[in-house]
Amino acid sequence: MGVTSVAASPHVRPVERDDRDRIQAIVVATGHFTQIEADTALELVDASLAGGEVSGYLTYVLESPPGMVQGYVCIGPTPLTDGTFDLYWVAVDPAAQGRGYGRRLLATAEAEVRARGGRLVIIETSSQEIYRPTVGFYESAGYRLVARIPNFYRPGDDKLVFSRDIAPA
Ligand SMILES: CC(C)(COP(=O)(O)OP(=O)(O)OC[C@H]1O[C@@H](n2cnc3c(N)ncnc32)[C@H](O)[C@@H]1OP(=O)(O)O)[C@@H](O)C(=O)NCCC(=O)NCCS
Repeated sequence: MGVTSVAASPHVRPVERDDRDRIQAIVVATGHFTQIEADTALELVDASLAGGEVSGYLTYVLESPPGMVQGYVCIGPTPLTDGTFDLYWVAVDPAAQGRGYGRRLLATAEAEVRARGGRLVIIETSSQEIYRPTVGFYESAGYRLVARIPNFYRPGDDKLVFSRDIAPA
């Protein structure tokens, strides 16, 4: 029984080249992103694959069961800051959402930030209705809305900035 539960538990690891197509499929399947946004998401994955940590992007995938990538997260240190990191992208296959995978990816991202001396995580998102569940996801993980720039993405579509202080107490 113990063996079964270990095999079934989600596993998060650094991205590998063979994950690229699956990540692309997940990004498209969410239905949340325009073509340009999806291309940009993949550019960050490609940068972390090509350059590793020095690229400024760190990408992790979640597998469950082993070998089956269900989601990914991409983070990186915010240039010209001391200990601030951006969470650039997080996505879970719609067929696997609501199982705690997103939260697990977020927790991994925060642990990696801490491991690098980071103290603050910033997430930017849009005020569009389609992102309301995503906002609920961030808030339930302890992120606080700290800024709002009206009409940033396009008229009527504001930029929302969430942050979480993850410095050890
Ligand atoms: C946002 C996203 C990554 C969440 O992943 P997920 O695996 O479904 O989330 P989890 O199952 O880990 O949920 C964690 C918590 O978030 C909250 N949450 C998740 N989905 C939610 C929803 N639809 N409405 C409200 N809250 C929600 C819940 O509080 C949940 O915790 P719970 O245990 O208290 O229920 C996923 O929905 C997704 O890929 N969305 C599309 C892409 C996207 O918007 N990415 C972010 C912008 S880059």
